[in-house]
Amino acid sequence: MCGIFAYLNYQVPRTRKEIFETLVKGLQRLEYRGYDSAGVAVDGPDKTSTDINSNTIYLIKKTGKVKNLDEELYKKDSLDLDVELCTHFGIAHTRWATHGEPSAVNSHPHRSDKTNEFVVIHNGIITNYKELKKYLITKGYEFESETDTEVIPKLIKYIYDNRETDSISFSTLVERVIQQLEGAFALVFKSRHFPGEAVATRRGSPLLIGVRSKYELPTENIPIQYNSGRHKEGVQEKNSHNRPDCADSISPVGDSEAVEYYFASDASAVIEHTNKVLYMEDDDIAMVAAGKLSIHRLNRQAGEDPVRAIQTLKMELQQIMKGNFDAFMQKEIFEQPESVVNTMRGRICFDTNMVVLGGLKDHLKEIKRCRRLIMIGCGTSFHAAVATRQILEELTELPVMVELASDFLDRNTPVFRDDVCFFISQSGETADTLMALRYCKERGALIVGITNTVGSSICRETDCGVHINAGPEIGVASTKAYTSQFVALIMFSLMMSEDRLSHQKRRLEIIHGLKVLPELIKNVLALDENIKTIANELFESKSLLVMGRGFNYATCLEGALKIKEITYMHSEGILAGELKHGPLALVDKDMPVIMIIMRDACYIKCHNALQQIIARAGRPIILCCKDDPEVTKNSYTTIELPQTVDCLQGIVSVIPLQLLSFHLAVLRGFDVDCPRNLAKSVTVE
Ligand code: F6R
Repeated sequence: MCGIFAYLNYQVPRTRKEIFETLVKGLQRLEYRGYDSAGVAVDGPDKTSTDINSNTIYLIKKTGKVKNLDEELYKKDSLDLDVELCTHFGIAHTRWATHGEPSAVNSHPHRSDKTNEFVVIHNGIITNYKELKKYLITKGYEFESETDTEVIPKLIKYIYDNRETDSISFSTLVERVIQQLEGAFALVFKSRHFPGEAVATRRGSPLLIGVRSKYELPTENIPIQYNSGRHKEGVQEKNSHNRPDCADSISPVGDSEAVEYYFASDASAVIEHTNKVLYMEDDDIAMVAAGKLSIHRLNRQAGEDPVRAIQTLKMELQQIMKGNFDAFMQKEIFEQPESVVNTMRGRICFDTNMVVLGGLKDHLKEIKRCRRLIMIGCGTSFHAAVATRQILEELTELPVMVELASDFLDRNTPVFRDDVCFFISQSGETADTLMALRYCKERGALIVGITNTVGSSICRETDCGVHINAGPEIGVASTKAYTSQFVALIMFSLMMSEDRLSHQKRRLEIIHGLKVLPELIKNVLALDENIKTIANELFESKSLLVMGRGFNYATCLEGALKIKEITYMHSEGILAGELKHGPLALVDKDMPVIMIIMRDACYIKCHNALQQIIARAGRPIILCCKDDPEVTKNSYTTIELPQTVDCLQGIVSVIPLQLLSFHLAVLRGFDVDCPRNLAKSVTVE
C-alpha cells in the first residue's frame, strides 16, 4: 500500500542532509505497509547557485527499497547537503503499484511538467483518470507515466495556467483540482510557485498532520474555513458557528514563529517527532503558508463540527501500526469491509451492472474460446479457487479444474495451448505456484495472475491478470487476501457472462450481493464477542472438525487451515457428503464439530449430517443464517450470520472462523502473527 510522508520546517534551520534523513525515516516507518518503489521531492538549488531562494524542485525516485532511495540521495553531487534551509517543504512517498509496473517513472512524486512546477504524492485510486488524461492531452500536456496519479499535477498546472487572477492561492488551486477527481485519494502538493507552502487534502484515504513547536499552541482546535467550492478567490463564506475566540489558523505563539509540520498517511511515520496530530476528514483542504496551518472545506455538510481537533497520541509505534488491534492478523480481519471494496473499486459499476477487469479485458475473447480453466494455488489461495469453482462453472460454462500447485506438478498434468491457467497467490512469490506457472507457460497456455503484490515474480511472468488490491497482509495467516481473491474470481465470472442473456438474472443478484457485502461483513465482525465466548469453551480441545458442503466446502477447508496454523490444534475441513465414508468415526461426546448450514441447495443435506453428529453425541457449533427456525428451535451453540447470495455466502461464513482461530490462538498463548515453522512467503518448494 502506498505511503505518504511530508515535512515542512518553518523558521527552523535544518541542513538538507537533516531534511533527507527526516524524509527517509518517515518512509521507513511506512515500509511495513508494503511497497515497490519510493521517491522524494525537495527544493533545489544546486551547489553552484548563489541564490538559495531560486525556486527549483528536485525529484529523486527509485524502484525497490527505501534504502536504495537513501543511497541515491547522497549520489546527487549537485545538491549541497550541508546548506541550512530555514524554511523548506519536502514530500516523500512509497508506492505499491496499481496502474503501471513498479518503475522510477511510475513512482511518486509525479510532476506537472519537466520543470517540476507542481509535484504531488498520492494514495488511492483516481477512477476517472482516463477521461481527465484524454482532456489534458488535447490541451497539449504530455504524460510520462502509466499511472492514474499523473493527471493530478497536470490538472493543477492547467488550472494555474488558466487562472483568472495572479493572486490565486495554492489551496484554491487544489480545491479546484479535487472538484474534478473521482475515486479515493490522499494528496500532498508542493509547488515552485509557492515555496515553503504545503497543501494537503483527502477523500477516502487517510491523512493526518503532526505539529511540533517549542511553544505552546494557541488552541487545541483549528476552525474550518468553509468555501462554497466555487467562490471567487479571496471571498470566503464565514461559518455561522465560527467561534470568535478561535484563531483563523494555527501558529505558535511566543517570541519565535518556529514550527514543524509532518503530513502522513499513517501516524507511525509521525509519532517519533510529535504526538500532537490532527486527523483530516474527507474534503478537508489543509494549507500551510508562512508557517500557519489553516483548514478549508470543499463543501459544508449540515451539522458539521466547525473545528478539527488536535489530538495527543499516547501510543507506541508498534501499537500505531497495529491500530487498536493486538495483532496484525486481527487488524487484517477487521479491514475486510474496506479491502473487499478496494478489490471492486473501479471495476464494478453498480449503476450499469458492468464489470470490467482492466487487466483481462484485452484477453477476454481468447479466454472465452478456451478448452478449460485451470485454477492453481497453494493453501489459502487454493481455497479461494475451490470456493469459486462452482460459480465459475455456472457462469462461464467451461470446465474448471482446481489444483494444488505441488500436486499439479507432481502429476505432470497435461496442459494444452487452448487452456487458460490462473495462478492465485497473495505474495506472488510462492515457489510451487511459480513453478506450475512456468510449466504451463512452456506448454503454451494463457497465463493469468490473481495476486496481491504488484511486481512480484508471478505478476511479472503472467500474460495478464488481476491485482486484488487487498493491501499488504502482514500476519502469516492469510485472511483479507482470501476474501479479496474470492471477490476477484467472482468478478471474473461476472465479466465472462456479461453477454449471456440466460445468466442476466443471476448476474444481477450477485452484483447486488457484492454491493452490500461490506455491510454484511461489518455485521459479522460485530459478532466478535460471541465468537470469543465460543473460543473460551473450545480452546482446551485437542481437535476441531469443520464440516459443510457445496458453496461452503471451501469455508471448511479454509477455517480448518486457519485453526491449525495458528492454534496448533488438530483441525480438519470435511465435506459433509463424505461423513459416512470415514470422518464419522471421529465423532464422540468430546469432539467439537463446527457445522456450516446455510440456506442454499445443500441445506437439507447439511441438516441430515447434523442429525448424524447429534446421534453420536457430538458437540455441534452451528454457523447458520440469522433466525433459521430449524436451528434456533434447539439449544445448539450457534453463530447466526446474515444471508447473502449462495455463491458469496462463503465470504461471510469464513470470517467467524478467522475470528475463532484468532481467539483460540490468543487463549492458548501463541504468537498469532508468527506461527511456529511458517513463513509469510514460501519461496522454496
Ligand atoms: C494460510 C496461508 C498459506 C498461503 C500459501 C500460499 O493462511 O497463508 O496457506 O495461502 O502459502 O501463499 P500465497 O498466496 O502467497 O501464494
